[in-house]
Amino acid sequence: MIILGIDIGGSGIKGAPVDVEQGVLTGPYHRIPTPQPSTPAAVAEVVTQLLRHFDWHGPVGCTFPAVIKDGVAYSAANVDKGWIGTNADALFEKATGCPFVVINDADAAGLAEVRFGAGRGQRGVIMVLTVGTGIGSALIVDGKLVPNTELGHMDLRGKEVEQRASDRVRVKKKLNWRQWAKRFDEVLQRFDALFSPRLFIIGGGVSKKHEKFLPLLKVGTPVVPAQLLNEAGIIGAALAASTLAEQPAELVK
Ligand code: BGC
Repeated sequence: MIILGIDIGGSGIKGAPVDVEQGVLTGPYHRIPTPQPSTPAAVAEVVTQLLRHFDWHGPVGCTFPAVIKDGVAYSAANVDKGWIGTNADALFEKATGCPFVVINDADAAGLAEVRFGAGRGQRGVIMVLTVGTGIGSALIVDGKLVPNTELGHMDLRGKEVEQRASDRVRVKKKLNWRQWAKRFDEVLQRFDALFSPRLFIIGGGVSKKHEKFLPLLKVGTPVVPAQLLNEAGIIGAALAASTLAEQPAELVK
């Protein structure tokens, strides 16, 4: 099955048709800069342009960097606050005429990494963290996602984890890798104590430089870099849309 996957991020909105059985894009992705401010109407316009680019008329899976329940955004940490309370599924469906399934960006990346990437074939509890502008989390148990864990907003010694150890903080505070790895290790140790995953998978912008910080981490559980890199969100979004399409009608939405 081929489904269009779209990944909405703070700086870019990327999309490509995805072969959801193989977990691969069927061609190069198309990227359009995220409009600023990233209001619902402005983002819906870019999403429409992406569908036009691929001349797409079928189902679409789409990520969004917020808590998403039944298509509705309940938070907006690094995007325009106008998203809170917006039904993203309905907004995009109205704008494009295509059926949409919108899920959290880290959840999408997590689904993709566990099915096709660094967590392939592994049972048990796996935690995927996307470390970029924010810190996103996906908790996956025997291949099933526990959505919207939002661990980046957990408090650690009086400060949100995302404000301590995101890649944005590393750059903004000019932390060297040793300094940043110490902060990130503290975060991993806390998550490790609370959830006892068998594996941490690190994605997002920082994962491109994994050789700089992975050897510095002391947490007892294995930590590996994501394998699908900047395609994980696109693939995971398409996967989420395909899974929903396969569910019995009474469970859908
Ligand atoms: C948001 C999450 C998102 C993460 C990564 C956080 O600020 O609250 O929903 O997954 O950033 O984009």
